Amino acid sequence: MGFKIIATGSYLPPKVLTNFDLEHMVDTSDEWIRERTGVRERRIVSEEMATSDMVTLAAEEALKYGNISKDEIDGVIVATVTPDHAYPSTACWVQKNLGLRKIAAFDINAACSGFLYGMLVAQGLLNTGVCSKIILSGAETMSKAVNWDDRETCVLFGDGAGVCIVENSDDDSDIIASYWAADGSIGDLLMQPAGGSRLPPSHETIDKKLHGVKMKGREVFKYAVRYMGEAADIVLKKAGLTVSDIDLYVPHQANFRIIDATCRRLGIPLKKTVITIDRYANIPAATIPISLDDAVKSGRIKRGDIALIVTFGGGFTWGAALVRW
Ligand code: UT7
Repeated sequence: MGFKIIATGSYLPPKVLTNFDLEHMVDTSDEWIRERTGVRERRIVSEEMATSDMVTLAAEEALKYGNISKDEIDGVIVATVTPDHAYPSTACWVQKNLGLRKIAAFDINAACSGFLYGMLVAQGLLNTGVCSKIILSGAETMSKAVNWDDRETCVLFGDGAGVCIVENSDDDSDIIASYWAADGSIGDLLMQPAGGSRLPPSHETIDKKLHGVKMKGREVFKYAVRYMGEAADIVLKKAGLTVSDIDLYVPHQANFRIIDATCRRLGIPLKKTVITIDRYANIPAATIPISLDDAVKSGRIKRGDIALIVTFGGGFTWGAALVRW
């Protein structure tokens, strides 16, 4: 039983798009973007690369880092809102790219909460013996999904992939408490209006730019602060812990001001918080695994530490997990 992250990896495209570059693309400024969001720059994937290619590279890094043979992997889960195609799933392309056995592979769409949702699904698959070692990823190519004429959204996002390889643990490593939730009644505050069965692609949907991100940012902001705080409180209560027991806070990276507000509300110092938004912007489902990989590589997390993961995103979906590393 238990749940152990045995290896991490990430892929951030080398191309950097700074706020100053954006000043030449839309009516914005470095000052506005930094002050309102905390973003300084973001990574942009090359034209020929799709989401599965980034996951493949991140997974190869994790397999190498963990000294794990591809034959041991018996599941691939990719959380994304920017899949290579509507179908087949991005996870199936990753299975092919990595040359894995004919194992289970599927995608999860819970927007920015996709990785947390994926963690809880993976925990279920491991604990029931359905799988024994899973490549769990969050990855996005937002640069191919945003409307580059819409200054209210295009400045917010970036591209990248993060991977955790997970298995049952033979020690204390575990998800010691978790909580997940959704509320579709406010789903239209953040959505991609066209491209699905509600509004299939047409000349009209393209002319009206309905394939980009549409967001009522200010309202989303309020829900994010409220639900992230609530989710953190719920898992701490479930586990019988307090914020002083937390070694590392790993929040979704949508806006530095949201992270700061949840830190203040919960009483978590910023120095215990992983911040990647300044370098990478919001990479919806990928921010949590990229942040975890960042924490591992920089030595900010070690076995036995307790990490509080909290997320919020389109759907709306949100949740939290307390992970004993
Ligand atoms: O990851 C999933 C969840 N997503 C989120 O959690 C995002 C939540 N929302 C936010 O992070 C913030 O609401 C934003 C960063 C999106 C926007 O920040 P804000 O402080 O809420 O700004 P606002 O939307 O209230 O806009 C303030 C002003 C407006 O001008 P007026 O009406 O005051 O004249 C906007 O038109 O800023 C203007 N504005 C911009 N100005 C320069 C909006 N975007 C830009 C821009 N550059 N890129």
